[in-house]
Amino acid sequence: MDFSQKLSNLKQSHLYRSRKISENTQNTQIIINGKSLINFCSNDYLSLARHPQVKEAFKQGIDKFGVGAGASHLISGHTLAHQALEEALADYTGQEKAVLFSTGYMANIGVFSALKDELDWVLQDKLNHASLIDANHLIGLPLQRYLHNNIISLEKKTAKQSGQGLIATDTVFSMDGDQANIKSIEKIVKKSGTLLMQDDAHGFGVFESIIPKNSIYMATLGKAAGTMGAFVAGDEDLIDFLIQKSRSYIYTTAIAPALCTATLKSLELIRQGEQNAKLLANIRYFQNLSKALNLPITNSNSAIQPFIVGSSEKVIYLSKKLLNAGFYISAIRPPTVPKDTARLRITLSADHTQNQIKQLLTQLKHALQ
Ligand SMILES: Cc1ncc(COP(=O)(O)O)c(C=O)c1O
Repeated sequence: MDFSQKLSNLKQSHLYRSRKISENTQNTQIIINGKSLINFCSNDYLSLARHPQVKEAFKQGIDKFGVGAGASHLISGHTLAHQALEEALADYTGQEKAVLFSTGYMANIGVFSALKDELDWVLQDKLNHASLIDANHLIGLPLQRYLHNNIISLEKKTAKQSGQGLIATDTVFSMDGDQANIKSIEKIVKKSGTLLMQDDAHGFGVFESIIPKNSIYMATLGKAAGTMGAFVAGDEDLIDFLIQKSRSYIYTTAIAPALCTATLKSLELIRQGEQNAKLLANIRYFQNLSKALNLPITNSNSAIQPFIVGSSEKVIYLSKKLLNAGFYISAIRPPTVPKDTARLRITLSADHTQNQIKQLLTQLKHALQ
């Protein structure tokens, strides 16, 4: 196989992805190649990844439990810290029980793998995250998608199915920042006896979750909670079933116990609401200022603010211009987003200052001229 030719094809189509090496840890300030930049592409929405209390809880977790879990949950890796976090997550989401996974990607794969023999069909929102799409492929059911956030399309497609089905949706869409209409989807699943699964990777900790009865709620801990891992919450029987059947739960090492002690602290800070209020104020400020500057930012109320540019070439040009001006923003291109919708994915965090946001939007306006 000629990998070199394949790589050069990617470069020619402006689709080659490269990694930037960060010389400090997550913050609104990031150092790359010795240059300090304002970071507008972290998912650390509540700025908890470096929060002193979360760091301290992590250190205490290491002192108590060591570094690694040493085994999978069903062998000897499930510690008091994992158990306490699962109970706290169930309580926070108002569900009977929760189970931890090592990543959100693995949680989605795990839910689908457990349900493999229970489902006759799956319907997914057109813009769902890649991990839900991969999970669907993994269990061998056809990938059927309804129009993005379109309840009529969902209703029509649901009516054509027979047998036990699953409707899966991102709660906050990862590349667009808009939110699924869970209340309307709930009506459809109730009427049709369908199971609902939501992936709230980008809403957990930021918005209050809406979790219909008998549904599956998945969220990640590596974004607003500032740590790592993921969980699924729901009825006790559902969670017990996942523990028995999810291959990506059973056949992998449990996350480090100290990550659980750190996440417990994150959860406490999320409940206090101070970081959340700062984030929501930043989102409002960003939206108002982009309108005042006539910048065509889409109407998203979440921390994800996409600036859709169209071509991959243009988005790279813009992201480089902003980089030269001191802002780090990722250029998102196909296949992560549909063809001709390449974009700057601007993400806001609680610890961004209004001045940083103002500078970014002013520079973006400048770069477009
Ligand atoms: C919607 C969504 N689901 C799942 C994941 C995967 O989560 P994790 O990073 O914990 O694997 C992501 C990550 O980007 C995501 O955006």
